[in-house]
Amino acid sequence: MRVLVVGSGGREHALVWALAASPLVDEVICAPGNAGIAAEAECLPVAAEDVEGLVRLARERHVDLVVVGPEGPLVAGLVDRLEAAGVRAFGPTAAAARLEGSKAFAKAFCARYGIPTARGGIFDRSQRAEAHAFVEAEGAPIVVKADGLAAGKGVVVAQTVAEAHAAIDEAFGGRFGEAGHTLVIEECLTGEEASLFALCDGTHALELGTARDYKRAFDGDRGPNTGGMGAVSPAPGFDDAARARAWQEIVLPALAGMRAEGAPFRGILYAGLMLTRDGPKLLEFNVRFGDPEAQAILPRLMTDFGQLVLGATEGALAHMDVRFWPKHAVTVVMASRGYPGEHAKDTEIRGLDGLLGEAEVVVFHAGTRRVDSRIVAHGGRVLDITGLGATLAEARARAYAAIARIDWPEGFYRRDIGRVAGVSEIA
Ligand code: AMP
Ligand code: GLY
Repeated sequence: MRVLVVGSGGREHALVWALAASPLVDEVICAPGNAGIAAEAECLPVAAEDVEGLVRLARERHVDLVVVGPEGPLVAGLVDRLEAAGVRAFGPTAAAARLEGSKAFAKAFCARYGIPTARGGIFDRSQRAEAHAFVEAEGAPIVVKADGLAAGKGVVVAQTVAEAHAAIDEAFGGRFGEAGHTLVIEECLTGEEASLFALCDGTHALELGTARDYKRAFDGDRGPNTGGMGAVSPAPGFDDAARARAWQEIVLPALAGMRAEGAPFRGILYAGLMLTRDGPKLLEFNVRFGDPEAQAILPRLMTDFGQLVLGATEGALAHMDVRFWPKHAVTVVMASRGYPGEHAKDTEIRGLDGLLGEAEVVVFHAGTRRVDSRIVAHGGRVLDITGLGATLAEARARAYAAIARIDWPEGFYRRDIGRVAGVSEIA
């Protein structure tokens, strides 16, 4: 089978890597890809947002299966368009992708199916006074979320009432465009965060691992929010009981609810959770793999990923199961200095060849380009280094030892990914 992977980040490199290893897959191509992906798959210059261009590419290249990495094209209806053109695709339709594309939809959906989530309300721009009154009544801390896709920047965890009022005014004032014209305002939950991934075929779901990601730019969870500076899998502290509860109370009702509403969910349902004293509560649904969570989860996967993806598109998951190697994974993101703000471009990265074939280490590329024989940084998040090990500490030591061999003075990374209290720090 010939597979087209859509996207250009570390997540898509991990998808390409896992699919290329499948005995069911003869060829992987990628659009648009990056320098690391290009070493494993032919990359074609079609943007992930170019829905019509991707449909054309899939048909021209006689692609048997399209695997979509990012949420943008899913919400925009890429899978609907591919299916209409007779091309098999892995990922939710636009109607099912509303679980991520609209936080207001997701919030109301949770209420309809009794899915545990933060107490809150939905307000559009005609309800500005009500939104402010809600904040006054609830007090701080309180969370203000733009309804639509906002590249991870649409959520403000306001520590004061004044901050929450300002967040409402900014969103309604147009800071996020359309995406901020409706807001979800909700109570601030406390606990450990964890993510649960479910591979879904519309009717059945299989657990595709757990992870914890690190959203802040700097050590100790300080600094601005980013797309994610690292991940560990399995998620620490997410025990079997909590996982079983999240599955029963969140994943299964979501799958049944979407089916009941005529938008069966196929693809990867990512439940971002807060493990509270009252049990797991949903922070958000995403309708795709996490980035960098996929880079930590896929290297732990024992079951053939190609078979699982195919099974999900064929409605065959009831007869399948997912197995993992008994390993921990730690993925550390290397980013260009300055990220998530302004940062230098086209800085050279050396030392990557020395890591090829390194045992229990996988290097995934995100924002990289090849210029002649050099690899240069071309984006904010640039490399994702995954270390594997029998313990979290071992996985972490491998990831950081690999990073120490990469020569990229213009890059930075967090030094506390996967750090366990009481284990001495690695410089
Ligand atoms: P979301 O995009 O909804 O997951 O929000 C991004 C991040 O904001 C989450 O990973 C949490 O760290 C935080 N967050 C979102 N909702 C809440 C909430 N109700 N209480 C506390 N933190 C939250
Ligand atoms: N790492 C967070 C996300 O992929 O949404």
